[in-house]
Amino acid sequence: MRVMLTLALVALCAIFLAQAASYNLTDGGWTDWSRWKTTTMCTVLCGGGVKNETRDRSCTNPEPSKGGSACVGEDRTERTVNCNTKECGDLCPEGEDTYIAVCNPRYFYQCQQGQEGVVSTKAFLKKCPEETVWNQTSTTCVHKPSGDTTPPLAPEPETAPTCTEGASRADPDDCTYYLQCVNGSEMKRPCPAGTKFDNALGYCNHANHVDC
Ligand SMILES: *[C@@H]1O[C@H](CO)[C@@H](O)[C@H](O)[C@H]1NC(C)=O
Ligand SMILES: *[C@@H]1O[C@H](CO)[C@@H](O)[C@H](O)[C@H]1NC(C)=O
Ligand SMILES: *[C@@H]1O[C@H](CO)[C@@H](O)[C@H](O)[C@H]1NC(C)=O
Ligand SMILES: *[C@@H]1O[C@H](CO)[C@@H](O)[C@H](O)[C@H]1NC(C)=O
Repeated sequence: MRVMLTLALVALCAIFLAQAASYNLTDGGWTDWSRWKTTTMCTVLCGGGVKNETRDRSCTNPEPSKGGSACVGEDRTERTVNCNTKECGDLCPEGEDTYIAVCNPRYFYQCQQGQEGVVSTKAFLKKCPEETVWNQTSTTCVHKPSGDTTPPLAPEPETAPTCTEGASRADPDDCTYYLQCVNGSEMKRPCPAGTKFDNALGYCNHANHVDC
């Protein structure tokens, strides 16, 4: 009789524990999607290009536990969106071979004239060959000067924008122009006549007040 009672008690305990365990079972749940993050530079500076974006989420809201089921679905999605759709205008004057420097010197933009009403004029992003950098004076990719001690170009443009949004600086080759960071790329803009870009002030100033 005592044996029977003990067994019954053990069985009851086992059922109780099993129920407690299953009550604790948690199925996984998705977090919200992250915001879209740009993963590639826009293919053009102007005239209409594309760039890729991704967003992700994780199965931690809550995390599955005690044998609960995993989340179903993708934890990352990708999309391609239009970018830099503005017309090139003065950036790509007709009848001229125009190249535009990017602050990351491994890249440059090359204008390609469109066809009225058919294809728009675009300034395409181009990459210099390995071990070379863009020289805006010679408008070619040149070998990096030997003995160059500047650290390797850290931010890979495939994963990061090349400049701080909104920031402006004088064009290093001609300070009657300045470079303004728009959508992760520097756009070359002219200063008004008689002015030069003053890096100290951050805007175009009377030419005789600017030392450059
Ligand atoms: C989940 O299990 C823990 C210990 O394993 C227990 O302390 C807790 O009360 C249980 N929660 C529920 C809701 O059963
Ligand atoms: C952007 O996404 C498209 C479509 O998914 C893909 O074909 C292309 O290779 C991507 N571009 C880059 C630079 O990764
Ligand atoms: C910057 O990107 C946004 C969204 O992609 C777009 O609406 C805007 O026109 C772009 N700005 C320029 C100057 O291309
Ligand atoms: C860029 O090109 C100019 C003109 O050819 C040259 O004088 C200058 O040394 C070059 N700069 C670099 C860093 O190679």
